[in-house]
Amino acid sequence: TIEECRKILKEEIKTFPDWPEKGVNFKDVQSILFNPELALVTSHYLQELLPKKDSNSFLFNKILCFDARGFLFGFDLAKASNTPMILARKHGKLPGEVVTQTFEKEYGLDEIQVQAGLINPGDKVLIHDDLLATGGTAGAAAEIILKCGAEIAGFNFIMDLSFLPGRKVLQKYVHDSKIQAL
Ligand code: PRP
Ligand code: MG
Repeated sequence: TIEECRKILKEEIKTFPDWPEKGVNFKDVQSILFNPELALVTSHYLQELLPKKDSNSFLFNKILCFDARGFLFGFDLAKASNTPMILARKHGKLPGEVVTQTFEKEYGLDEIQVQAGLINPGDKVLIHDDLLATGGTAGAAAEIILKCGAEIAGFNFIMDLSFLPGRKVLQKYVHDSKIQAL
């Protein structure tokens, strides 16, 4: 069940205390990928969290995933839901016209970009990343979706560093029940 998956993941995902700086507990997605069984549990767990209309249709029609760790399970979710996947990449990685959003990271400003034309009015876009920390990255994705005139279907993360205000930041965009994480 989903509760069993949650318990296994909480116990098995490796944490590095005080990395990359004091007070931060780094949750390492490498520890999931190195253990094929745990990777399967993760994949199953994330699929269970996908917002569904009914047993065979979803409440989103596109999925946007983040460079780099969001790509690992994002593609898996895109396949499982038979949904187009959009790569949100760090600055300067994408060819052609792009939509850009600047946001604050711990050490100054950062930028994410999506190729223009992939998100359109009427779309309901699900956002996936491995980890919700301050919410800066996911919030920037939300802004890009809104800029393109589309709707945010929800957020899907493997892990949530709940001692940080990420969830609060994202509640500006969707109801709390649409922010899914461990
Ligand atoms: C990490 C993590 C999330 C983001 C969360 O990525 O994978 O994408 O930070 O932090 P936030 O909620 O404070 O924005 P990072 O930028 O370290 O890059 P990576 O995925 O390429 O490793
Ligand atoms: Mg990342």
